[in-house]
Amino acid sequence: MSDAGSAFPAFRGRRRRNSHGLLDLTRETRLHTDQLVYPLFLRDRPGFRQEISSMPGQFQLGIDAATALIEKALQKGIQSFLLFGIPEAKDPEGSSAWDHEGVVAKSLRAFRKAFGNAICLITDECFCEYTSHGHCGIIHTEDDRVVLENDRTLPLLAKQTVVHAQAGADIVAPSGMLDGAIGAIRAGLDGAGFSHLPILAYSAKFASGFYGPFREAAQSPPQFGDRSSYQMDPANRLEALNEVLLDIGEGADMVMVKPALAYLDIIREVRNRTLLPVAAYNVSGEYAMIKAAAAKGWLDEKRVILETLTSIRRAGADIIISYHAVEAADWIGRG
Ligand code: PBG
Repeated sequence: MSDAGSAFPAFRGRRRRNSHGLLDLTRETRLHTDQLVYPLFLRDRPGFRQEISSMPGQFQLGIDAATALIEKALQKGIQSFLLFGIPEAKDPEGSSAWDHEGVVAKSLRAFRKAFGNAICLITDECFCEYTSHGHCGIIHTEDDRVVLENDRTLPLLAKQTVVHAQAGADIVAPSGMLDGAIGAIRAGLDGAGFSHLPILAYSAKFASGFYGPFREAAQSPPQFGDRSSYQMDPANRLEALNEVLLDIGEGADMVMVKPALAYLDIIREVRNRTLLPVAAYNVSGEYAMIKAAAAKGWLDEKRVILETLTSIRRAGADIIISYHAVEAADWIGRG
Protein backbone atom coordinates (compact mmCIF):
# COMPACT_ATOMS: atom_id res chain seq x y z
CA MET A 1 0.00 0.00 0.00
CA SER A 2 1.21 3.52 -0.70
CA ASP A 3 0.01 7.04 0.06
CA ALA A 4 -0.33 7.73 -3.64
CA GLY A 5 -3.94 6.65 -3.73
CA SER A 6 -3.46 5.51 -7.27
CA ALA A 7 -0.95 3.54 -9.23
CA PHE A 8 1.01 4.25 -12.38
CA PRO A 9 0.35 6.11 -14.63
CA ALA A 10 -1.61 8.44 -12.30
CA PHE A 11 1.23 8.28 -9.79
CA ARG A 12 4.78 8.74 -11.00
CA GLY A 13 7.55 8.60 -8.38
CA ARG A 14 9.94 10.35 -10.74
CA ARG A 15 7.93 13.60 -10.62
CA ARG A 16 9.61 14.27 -7.30
CA ARG A 17 13.09 13.86 -8.75
CA ASN A 18 12.74 16.51 -11.43
CA SER A 19 14.77 19.33 -9.94
CA HIS A 20 17.35 20.08 -7.28
CA GLY A 21 14.91 22.37 -5.51
CA LEU A 22 12.37 19.59 -5.26
CA LEU A 23 14.97 17.09 -4.09
CA ASP A 24 16.19 19.50 -1.43
CA LEU A 25 12.66 20.21 -0.28
CA THR A 26 11.71 16.59 0.21
CA ARG A 27 14.99 15.09 1.50
CA GLU A 28 14.29 12.97 4.58
CA THR A 29 17.73 12.86 6.16
CA ARG A 30 20.02 15.80 6.66
CA LEU A 31 23.57 16.24 7.85
CA HIS A 32 24.68 19.13 10.01
CA THR A 33 28.08 19.86 11.45
CA ASP A 34 26.65 19.95 14.96
CA GLN A 35 25.76 16.23 14.76
CA LEU A 36 29.40 15.27 14.20
CA VAL A 37 32.10 14.46 16.73
CA TYR A 38 35.76 14.48 15.72
CA PRO A 39 38.22 12.12 17.48
CA LEU A 40 41.66 13.37 18.54
CA PHE A 41 44.74 11.28 19.40
CA LEU A 42 46.74 13.26 21.93
CA ARG A 43 50.39 13.12 22.98
CA ASP A 44 52.06 15.10 25.74
CA ARG A 45 54.88 16.22 23.47
CA PRO A 46 55.05 19.84 22.40
CA GLY A 47 54.99 20.32 18.65
CA PHE A 48 54.25 16.65 18.01
CA ARG A 49 52.41 15.88 14.77
CA GLN A 50 52.67 12.43 13.23
CA GLU A 51 50.41 11.01 10.56
CA ILE A 52 48.84 7.61 11.27
CA SER A 53 49.86 5.51 8.29
CA SER A 54 46.69 3.40 8.14
CA MET A 55 44.51 6.53 8.51
CA PRO A 56 45.78 9.06 5.94
CA GLY A 57 44.87 12.59 7.01
CA GLN A 58 44.66 11.68 10.73
CA PHE A 59 47.43 12.50 13.18
CA GLN A 60 48.72 11.93 16.67
CA LEU A 61 49.02 15.47 17.96
CA GLY A 62 50.75 17.33 20.75
CA ILE A 63 48.37 19.47 22.83
CA ASP A 64 49.46 22.65 21.02
CA ALA A 65 48.97 21.12 17.56
CA ALA A 66 45.57 19.77 18.64
CA THR A 67 44.56 23.23 19.85
CA ALA A 68 45.34 24.62 16.40
CA LEU A 69 43.30 21.86 14.76
CA ILE A 70 40.31 22.50 17.06
CA GLU A 71 40.45 26.16 16.11
CA LYS A 72 40.24 25.22 12.43
CA ALA A 73 37.44 22.70 13.06
CA LEU A 74 35.43 25.26 15.04
CA GLN A 75 35.57 27.67 12.12
CA LYS A 76 34.02 24.96 9.99
CA GLY A 77 31.25 24.33 12.53
CA ILE A 78 32.62 21.20 14.26
CA GLN A 79 32.40 21.80 17.99
CA SER A 80 32.47 18.34 19.58
CA PHE A 81 35.61 16.29 20.08
CA LEU A 82 36.36 12.83 21.46
CA LEU A 83 39.71 12.68 23.25
CA PHE A 84 42.07 9.70 23.28
CA GLY A 85 45.33 9.91 25.20
CA ILE A 86 48.52 8.13 24.26
CA PRO A 87 50.72 8.12 27.37
CA GLU A 88 54.50 8.18 27.11
CA ALA A 89 54.77 5.27 29.61
CA LYS A 90 52.52 2.25 30.23
CA ASP A 91 52.21 -0.28 33.05
CA PRO A 92 50.03 -3.37 33.73
CA GLU A 93 47.36 -1.34 35.58
CA GLY A 94 47.36 1.62 33.20
CA SER A 95 47.96 3.99 36.10
CA SER A 96 48.61 7.08 33.95
CA ALA A 97 44.89 6.91 33.07
CA TRP A 98 44.01 8.51 36.41
CA ASP A 99 46.97 10.88 36.61
CA HIS A 100 45.95 14.54 36.96
CA GLU A 101 49.03 15.32 34.86
CA GLY A 102 48.15 12.67 32.28
CA VAL A 103 47.79 13.67 28.64
CA VAL A 104 43.97 13.75 28.57
CA ALA A 105 43.65 15.74 31.80
CA LYS A 106 46.24 18.25 30.57
CA SER A 107 44.55 18.51 27.19
CA LEU A 108 41.14 19.13 28.74
CA ARG A 109 42.50 22.03 30.78
CA ALA A 110 44.35 23.48 27.78
CA PHE A 111 41.36 23.23 25.42
CA ARG A 112 38.98 24.65 28.00
CA LYS A 113 41.32 27.56 28.58
CA ALA A 114 41.62 28.24 24.87
CA PHE A 115 37.97 27.81 23.84
CA GLY A 116 35.83 28.11 26.98
CA ASN A 117 32.35 26.70 26.45
CA ALA A 118 32.50 26.99 22.66
CA ILE A 119 33.52 23.32 22.50
CA CYS A 120 32.09 20.05 23.78
CA LEU A 121 34.78 17.70 25.08
CA ILE A 122 34.06 13.98 25.34
CA THR A 123 36.56 11.64 26.96
CA ASP A 124 36.96 7.97 26.02
CA GLU A 125 37.22 6.10 29.32
CA CYS A 126 39.19 2.90 28.89
CA PHE A 127 42.55 1.40 29.74
CA CYS A 128 43.77 -0.18 26.52
CA GLU A 129 45.85 2.88 25.59
CA TYR A 130 47.41 2.92 29.07
CA THR A 131 48.14 -0.73 29.91
CA SER A 132 51.40 -2.35 28.84
CA HIS A 133 49.46 -5.47 27.69
CA GLY A 134 46.91 -3.41 25.70
CA HIS A 135 43.79 -4.86 27.31
CA CYS A 136 40.96 -2.70 28.61
CA GLY A 137 41.59 -3.26 32.33
CA ILE A 138 43.39 -5.45 34.83
CA ILE A 139 43.96 -8.97 33.48
CA HIS A 140 45.30 -12.37 34.33
CA THR A 141 45.72 -15.36 32.06
CA GLU A 142 44.19 -18.81 32.52
CA ASP A 143 45.50 -21.52 30.17
CA ASP A 144 46.56 -18.88 27.62
CA ARG A 145 43.15 -17.24 27.83
CA VAL A 146 43.04 -13.57 28.81
CA VAL A 147 40.68 -12.89 31.69
CA LEU A 148 39.75 -9.25 32.15
CA GLU A 149 39.10 -8.69 35.84
CA ASN A 150 35.85 -6.85 35.56
CA ASP A 151 35.12 -5.98 39.18
CA ARG A 152 38.68 -5.00 40.07
CA THR A 153 38.78 -2.68 37.04
CA LEU A 154 35.53 -0.83 37.84
CA PRO A 155 36.90 1.35 40.68
CA LEU A 156 39.87 2.30 38.50
CA LEU A 157 37.52 3.25 35.69
CA ALA A 158 35.52 5.43 38.07
CA LYS A 159 38.77 7.04 39.26
CA GLN A 160 39.88 7.79 35.68
CA THR A 161 36.49 9.31 34.92
CA VAL A 162 36.50 11.57 37.98
CA VAL A 163 39.97 12.87 37.02
CA HIS A 164 38.65 13.74 33.56
CA ALA A 165 35.56 15.37 35.07
CA GLN A 166 37.76 17.50 37.30
CA ALA A 167 39.90 18.51 34.33
CA GLY A 168 36.84 19.77 32.44
CA ALA A 169 35.18 16.99 30.40
CA ASP A 170 31.62 17.76 29.25
CA ILE A 171 30.69 14.12 28.62
CA VAL A 172 32.41 10.90 29.68
CA ALA A 173 32.25 7.87 27.42
CA PRO A 174 33.25 4.47 28.84
CA SER A 175 34.28 2.18 25.98
CA GLY A 176 35.55 -0.99 27.63
CA MET A 177 32.33 -3.08 27.65
CA LEU A 178 32.78 -3.93 31.33
CA ASP A 179 29.71 -5.17 33.17
CA GLY A 180 28.48 -2.55 35.61
CA ALA A 181 30.67 0.23 34.19
CA ILE A 182 27.89 2.78 33.87
CA GLY A 183 26.67 2.25 37.43
CA ALA A 184 30.20 2.40 38.84
CA ILE A 185 31.02 5.59 36.94
CA ARG A 186 27.71 7.22 37.84
CA ALA A 187 28.33 6.52 41.53
CA GLY A 188 31.92 7.74 41.26
CA LEU A 189 30.92 10.97 39.55
CA ASP A 190 28.03 11.65 41.91
CA GLY A 191 30.27 11.04 44.92
CA ALA A 192 32.83 13.54 43.60
CA GLY A 193 30.29 16.30 43.01
CA PHE A 194 29.65 15.63 39.30
CA SER A 195 26.02 14.50 39.38
CA HIS A 196 25.37 16.91 36.48
CA LEU A 197 27.92 15.26 34.15
CA PRO A 198 26.39 13.02 31.44
CA ILE A 199 27.57 9.56 30.41
CA LEU A 200 27.68 8.46 26.78
CA ALA A 201 27.81 4.66 27.02
CA TYR A 202 29.53 2.59 24.35
CA SER A 203 26.69 0.14 25.01
CA ALA A 204 26.75 -2.09 21.95
CA LYS A 205 30.40 -2.41 21.06
CA PHE A 206 31.26 -5.35 18.87
CA ALA A 207 34.56 -7.26 18.73
CA SER A 208 35.35 -5.88 15.29
CA GLY A 209 38.11 -6.16 12.72
CA PHE A 210 37.29 -2.57 11.79
CA TYR A 211 39.24 -1.24 14.82
CA GLY A 212 42.56 -2.28 13.26
CA PRO A 213 43.83 1.18 12.23
CA PHE A 214 42.73 2.71 15.56
CA ARG A 215 45.03 0.35 17.39
CA GLU A 216 47.93 1.76 15.41
CA ALA A 217 46.67 5.29 16.03
CA ALA A 218 46.28 4.81 19.79
CA GLN A 219 49.16 2.36 20.11
CA SER A 220 46.78 0.01 21.89
CA PRO A 221 46.79 -3.43 20.21
CA PRO A 222 46.48 -6.32 22.68
CA GLN A 223 50.00 -7.74 23.10
CA PHE A 224 48.44 -11.23 23.36
CA GLY A 225 44.90 -12.62 23.18
CA ASP A 226 42.01 -10.56 21.83
CA ARG A 227 39.00 -8.62 23.10
CA SER A 228 36.35 -11.24 22.38
CA SER A 229 35.76 -11.99 26.06
CA TYR A 230 34.46 -8.47 26.67
CA GLN A 231 33.37 -6.99 23.32
CA MET A 232 30.35 -8.51 21.60
CA ASP A 233 30.05 -11.19 18.96
CA PRO A 234 29.18 -9.50 15.62
CA ALA A 235 26.48 -12.12 15.10
CA ASN A 236 24.35 -10.94 18.02
CA ARG A 237 21.45 -8.52 17.73
CA LEU A 238 19.37 -9.30 20.82
CA GLU A 239 22.45 -9.21 23.01
CA ALA A 240 23.20 -5.72 21.70
CA LEU A 241 19.72 -4.50 22.58
CA ASN A 242 20.01 -6.02 26.02
CA GLU A 243 23.35 -4.26 26.61
CA VAL A 244 21.76 -0.96 25.64
CA LEU A 245 18.81 -1.44 27.99
CA LEU A 246 21.12 -2.51 30.83
CA ASP A 247 23.24 0.63 30.40
CA ILE A 248 20.14 2.80 30.41
CA GLY A 249 19.06 1.05 33.60
CA GLU A 250 22.42 1.91 35.17
CA GLY A 251 22.06 5.57 34.28
CA ALA A 252 23.43 6.12 30.75
CA ASP A 253 22.35 9.49 29.32
CA MET A 254 23.19 8.57 25.72
CA VAL A 255 23.98 5.21 24.13
CA MET A 256 26.28 4.19 21.33
CA VAL A 257 26.53 1.51 18.67
CA LYS A 258 29.99 0.72 17.33
CA PRO A 259 31.11 0.18 14.59
CA ALA A 260 28.48 1.87 12.41
CA LEU A 261 28.43 0.52 8.87
CA ALA A 262 28.29 -3.23 9.45
CA TYR A 263 25.76 -2.54 12.25
CA LEU A 264 23.23 -0.16 10.70
CA ASP A 265 20.46 -2.60 11.62
CA ILE A 266 21.48 -2.39 15.28
CA ILE A 267 21.47 1.43 15.15
CA ARG A 268 17.93 1.34 13.77
CA GLU A 269 16.69 -1.06 16.43
CA VAL A 270 18.30 0.89 19.24
CA ARG A 271 16.76 4.09 17.85
CA ASN A 272 13.33 2.45 17.81
CA ARG A 273 13.68 1.07 21.34
CA THR A 274 14.94 4.05 23.32
CA LEU A 275 14.05 7.69 23.79
CA LEU A 276 17.64 8.70 24.54
CA PRO A 277 20.06 10.18 21.99
CA VAL A 278 21.80 7.45 19.99
CA ALA A 279 25.39 7.81 18.82
CA ALA A 280 27.18 5.71 16.22
CA TYR A 281 30.95 5.40 15.80
CA ASN A 282 32.10 5.45 12.18
CA VAL A 283 35.33 3.68 13.12
CA SER A 284 38.90 3.72 11.90
CA GLY A 285 38.59 0.74 9.52
CA GLU A 286 35.56 2.30 7.85
CA TYR A 287 37.59 5.49 7.31
CA ALA A 288 40.61 3.54 6.07
CA MET A 289 38.57 1.62 3.48
CA ILE A 290 37.33 4.81 1.85
CA LYS A 291 40.75 6.49 1.92
CA ALA A 292 42.47 3.46 0.42
CA ALA A 293 39.96 3.03 -2.40
CA ALA A 294 39.91 6.78 -3.11
CA ALA A 295 43.72 6.87 -3.29
CA LYS A 296 43.52 4.23 -6.00
CA GLY A 297 40.90 6.24 -7.86
CA TRP A 298 38.35 3.47 -7.35
CA LEU A 299 35.75 5.60 -5.56
CA ASP A 300 34.54 9.21 -5.66
CA GLU A 301 35.72 10.11 -2.16
CA LYS A 302 33.44 13.06 -1.37
CA ARG A 303 30.39 11.28 -2.65
CA VAL A 304 31.09 8.11 -0.69
CA ILE A 305 31.84 9.98 2.54
CA LEU A 306 28.55 11.89 2.35
CA GLU A 307 26.66 8.72 1.43
CA THR A 308 28.23 6.93 4.41
CA LEU A 309 27.39 9.68 6.92
CA THR A 310 23.87 9.99 5.53
CA SER A 311 23.29 6.25 5.84
CA ILE A 312 24.29 6.31 9.50
CA ARG A 313 21.90 9.18 10.16
CA ARG A 314 19.15 7.45 8.17
CA ALA A 315 19.65 4.31 10.28
CA GLY A 316 18.74 6.45 13.28
CA ALA A 317 21.93 7.88 14.78
CA ASP A 318 21.51 11.35 16.27
CA ILE A 319 25.25 11.75 16.79
CA ILE A 320 28.04 10.46 14.54
CA ILE A 321 31.62 10.12 15.71
CA SER A 322 33.73 10.22 12.56
CA TYR A 323 37.27 10.86 11.36
CA HIS A 324 35.59 12.42 8.31
CA ALA A 325 33.97 15.15 10.45
CA VAL A 326 36.38 17.98 9.66
CA GLU A 327 36.70 17.30 5.93
CA ALA A 328 32.95 16.72 5.58
CA ALA A 329 32.19 20.00 7.35
CA ASP A 330 33.17 21.85 4.18
CA TRP A 331 30.45 20.03 2.26
CA ILE A 332 27.53 19.97 4.64
CA GLY A 333 25.33 22.53 6.34
CA ARG A 334 25.73 24.00 9.76
CA GLY A 335 22.96 23.30 12.23
C1 PBG B 1 38.84 1.58 23.28
C2 PBG B 1 38.42 2.08 21.96
C3 PBG B 1 38.69 1.50 20.71
C4 PBG B 1 38.09 2.33 19.76
C5 PBG B 1 37.51 3.39 20.43
N1 PBG B 1 37.70 3.21 21.79
C6 PBG B 1 39.51 0.33 20.36
C7 PBG B 1 39.14 -1.04 20.68
O1 PBG B 1 38.10 -1.33 21.26
O2 PBG B 1 39.97 -1.90 20.38
C8 PBG B 1 38.10 2.09 18.28
C9 PBG B 1 37.75 3.25 17.42
C10 PBG B 1 38.08 3.10 15.98
O3 PBG B 1 38.40 2.00 15.47
O4 PBG B 1 38.03 4.12 15.31
N2 PBG B 1 39.56 2.55 23.99
